[in-house]
Parts: sequence; C-alpha cells; structure tokens
Amino acid sequence: MTETQYLYDSYQMESEATIQQISQLADGQTYLILDKTIFFAQGGGQPSDSGVITGSDGKLTVKSIEYNKGEIKHIGKLNGRLNVGNKVKLKIDWGRRYQHMIWHSAGHLLDDATLRANPKLIPVSGMHGIGRKMYIEYSGQVDNPKILIEKINTELVTLQKKLQKIVTKFVTLEELQKLSNWIPESLPKNKRLRIMQIGTGRIIPDGGTQVKSTSEIPPIEATKIELGETSFKVHYQIIGTSDETKSKEAPKTITITGKKVNLRSLKANFTSDVLKLKNNLGDLEKIQTKYLGKKGLINSLFDSLTNDEKAIQGKEINDFKRSILEKLNQRKVKIETIINREKFDATIPGILPPLGHLHLVTQAIREISAIFTLIGFIRRRYPEVDTDWYAAAGLNIPPDHPARDDQETFYVSENVVLTPHTSNGQLHEMELMKRPPIKMINIGKTYRRQIDISHTPMFHQFEGLLIDKGINITHLIGVGNYFVQNYFGPDRRIRLRPHHFQFTEPSFEIDITCGVCRGVGCRLCKAGWLELGGAGMVHPTVLKNGGINPDKYSGFAFGWGVERVLAMKYDLPDIRNIYTTDLRILNQF
Ligand code: FA5
Repeated sequence: MTETQYLYDSYQMESEATIQQISQLADGQTYLILDKTIFFAQGGGQPSDSGVITGSDGKLTVKSIEYNKGEIKHIGKLNGRLNVGNKVKLKIDWGRRYQHMIWHSAGHLLDDATLRANPKLIPVSGMHGIGRKMYIEYSGQVDNPKILIEKINTELVTLQKKLQKIVTKFVTLEELQKLSNWIPESLPKNKRLRIMQIGTGRIIPDGGTQVKSTSEIPPIEATKIELGETSFKVHYQIIGTSDETKSKEAPKTITITGKKVNLRSLKANFTSDVLKLKNNLGDLEKIQTKYLGKKGLINSLFDSLTNDEKAIQGKEINDFKRSILEKLNQRKVKIETIINREKFDATIPGILPPLGHLHLVTQAIREISAIFTLIGFIRRRYPEVDTDWYAAAGLNIPPDHPARDDQETFYVSENVVLTPHTSNGQLHEMELMKRPPIKMINIGKTYRRQIDISHTPMFHQFEGLLIDKGINITHLIGVGNYFVQNYFGPDRRIRLRPHHFQFTEPSFEIDITCGVCRGVGCRLCKAGWLELGGAGMVHPTVLKNGGINPDKYSGFAFGWGVERVLAMKYDLPDIRNIYTTDLRILNQF
C-alpha cells in the first residue's frame, strides 16, 4: 500500500520516501513502489505527474504513474542503481502538475455552474486536459443543448466574479451519503473518503489534486455539448488569465522622491538614461549610483517588497540588476576607447594591410620578355583566337595532316581555333614587318584539350622568331644558351635533338642540363637532360607564306612553355598547382 500524500497537500513539490519494490518492465523501463508518494497517478480525468526520484547511486526519471490495487508504480528510465530499502528524494515536475491542478479545479467550477443551471444533472466522469480534452460528462439526456450552454455560461460569469475557497477533507461513507446526492458505486466502503467543495458548491468525492482558491483558476467558458446515447458531455476551455497570475505579473509600485515607480518603469527609465548618456565617464558613474548604489532605485524597490513579493519578483529584479551592470560596463569600454582614440598619435606608422603580388606566371612572362628584349627581340602579342591559316595551314600543316591531332585543338568554328601554340604569330609578324630583320618574342595564351601533372588546358608559350640573311643553327644554339643561362643560371646549357615539326626544317627538341645533377644524370632527368621545347629552322614554305624570299633569308624559331620553364626552375611537382588559388602556394613566389 502506498500512502498518497498528494491527497493531503496538493502543493507539495518535494518529499522523501523508502523504496519497497524495484522491477524491470519488458520495454526496458523500471518501476519503483514506495512507502509513500507525492506523485499523482492518472485518475478522475487528471493526467499523471512526471518528475525525478533520486537515490545516492541512481536516479529514476519518472515518465508515468500507475495506480494498481493500492500500489503506485513510478515508471521511467533508471540511470545508476537503486535498491529496495534505499531512502530516495522525490521531486515532481511542478509546472505540469500545477497546470493539471488548475484544469481539474476548473472542471469542478464548471460542474458547479451546470448544477446551478440544472440542479438535477448528475456527473459521471470528467476529463481535464488529457490530450487537451476538457469536459464533464453527465448522465441522461438534454432537451435543448444550446439553452443549457447559455445558462451554464451565465452561471459561470456569476461564479467567477466571486472569490471562493476550494476545500478538501476526509469523511466516512455515511457522512458522505448525508452530504452528497451523488455517490459513485466504485467508492471503497471501508475507507475514509476524500471530498472537495468550491465555496458552497456541490460536495463531491474527489481523489485528484486541487488548487486552494478560485483566484488561481483562469476564466473558463462552456464551449459545446456533445450528445451520447445515455449521457452528454459539456466541454469547456480556458479563455483568460487567473487573478493569481495577473497579480504576479503586475509589478509592485513604490514611491521614490514623490514619483510612483515600478520595475517596468525603472527599466524604461534606465534605457532612456543610457540613451541620453554622452561619452563621459562621470555621467556613467552617476547612472550606476542612481540604479545600483546602496540607496539606489533597485535596492529601494527590493526593500519595499514583502517576502512573498520578493519570491515572485526577486529573480526579475536581480536579472535587471545584472543587465544594468552589463550594459554600463560595455558602455564604459566604448567610452574609454573613444577617450584613448582622442589621444591618438598620428606619427606612429600605420599597420599595413596584407599585400598581394603579381601572379607567378605574370612574373615569369615579364622576366622572359626582359631577357629577350635585352638582345633586341621585340615583344609581341598575337590573337589567341585565330584562323586556321595562321595556326595551321599557313604553317605548312595541311588539313588532314596527323600533326593537327597532336595538338588537340579547340575549334571555335570550322575555320577558327583557340590557338594551340604561339607559332600563329610567325606569319602575323612577317606580314607586319614585311621584310627582315625580324626578331620577335611572342608570348601569349594557348589552349589544348590536355590536363595532367605536366599539362593544363590553358597555358602560355613564348615563341621566338629570328629571320635575317645568313641565320643558321648556331644562332639558335647561341640564343638558346643565352636564355637558359639568364633564366635558370649561368652553368646551364642546351642541346638539340632531332625532331619533326611541319613548319621547321630541320626541327629539334631542345633539352637543358638538369638543375639537380648538372648534366650528370639523376632520378629527375633523362640522363642529365630535361626537355625544354620545340625549335627549328623556319621552313621555306612558311617564309614564302609570310611573303619572305627563302632564297635570300633564313631564320630560326622556337616555342617553349612558360609554365613548363617555371616548373623546371622551381621544381614544381605538379604544373596544375600554378593555377590554384591556394595562397600558401602562391605566397611562395
Ligand atoms: C609547339 O607548340 C610548337 N609550336 C613549338 C615550336 C615553335 C617548334 C617554333 C618549332 C618552331 P609543342 O607542342 O612541343 O610544340 O609545345 C611546346 C611547349 O609548350 C612544350 O614543350 C611545353 O613546354 C609547352 N606545352 C605544350 N602543351 C602544354 C600544356 N598542355 N600545358 C603546359 N605546357 C604545354
């Protein structure tokens, strides 16, 4: 048998008890049976309580309560260990309980109004907030539900104007029979029974929890009548705020230097004082003393409260006090910063924002240009989108020649391409200059359908072209060595390997001595040499296509990759890194 303490004091939120039984349920939950409890088990239309039961080594989070033949099961999730005989602390979820108490008592108030509207009506059950349903069920039939609802609501208005006490007490069955016209069959015969009464309203057996006064019940109204076969339900709902809540919400008013103030007006005054505050630390301190000083407004307000009022408003006043301090401290920091800024020394050097720099490809293009212009080459830029004539046909590459496949060219239209090399500049330069000497260094963007660690789809080439009388391979070797020694270092040199290009004859692949082993041979190079790019003596057909007599003039040309020489110079493991936006890479150049 569990002693039901909530029947004696509905307002008890915490208590102690001893565990009498612990059992495990099939769904993994645990239930405890205690010698006594403040937890209310569902009944009379009131939902059960939730809360916690804590022992020295474990805690049960109570989800539901079940009443079974005098024993109350506290069901929930157990963390840690609890044992039979343990003393435990009980704490109910008060917010939930109080709400249910209010809804429950409201149901009884509705019943009193119904009784006044029709004294013959006998209640059979009630529901007070389970699944948000709220009603009292009456036995019998109702002739005109609309009129009954109107009458109930008229009586409710009268009842709710009165402040009435809600009383509970224990009586014997015989005593109850004298007091009440309604005695449910199910009531135990051999036990004292609890009854409840609102003011002088209906005396009714009741095992739920009740508020102490109608001031705690918010205004309610009957909303509809639901007709059943042998009974009908009068539904009700809450339509306002209880007097009790209103009085808790209304802030205490005090008179300070002849003016009436309360917490709400103090908050408004403080906001306006802070708004008016100039950047002056003295004024800020005055505000601080006005509100937080020993005899300040906050203390005066607090001192004027009774203990009960302190319990209600104390937390809000303390929160306000904390927010005053916080706001004034923030403002103090701002004022101090402004004061310090006024002492600003303009002669102190400024802080430089992070500076960027030219991209490494731009840097390389400038460096390469400078190296060639120093020996009389003229820097050119020719179209990146060009006709097939300049990019291929004019360079002696017929339409069906396999060399076209090597370059994996992007076609814009049948006759127009994104230049796959800068050799298109050769014919443009011959047309521009009309006659030799021609000394061009054409640097531009080139495009091919290629991407891997040594290829990007867009890259740059630098194309050298030198045409004059008596130009031969030794000039090409001389210019090649000049470039690699100036760009890579004085100890570097080139070699020529036979190759084939349609627009040069003979054609070469130019290699440079490896920067790591200096030509001896290592893992990085091919027996001491690295590939630089293509070159050769300009083909007589190309000279002719450019309007230059090949019998009178000869020339050499070369085309090397800017990214490729960069990767060689700085040992870049992947040429694609050059086009990353990762500043950790770019900042190194
Ligand atoms: C040519 O493009 C010839 N026009 C070079 C030439 C000019 C030969 C004048 C004779 C006379 P090739 O396809 O080998 O050649 O490319 C030349 C260089 O461009 C390569 O050595 C390499 O450094 C660079 N290169 C080629 N494709 C790519 C690419 N996808 N990404 C980066 N660099 C590339």
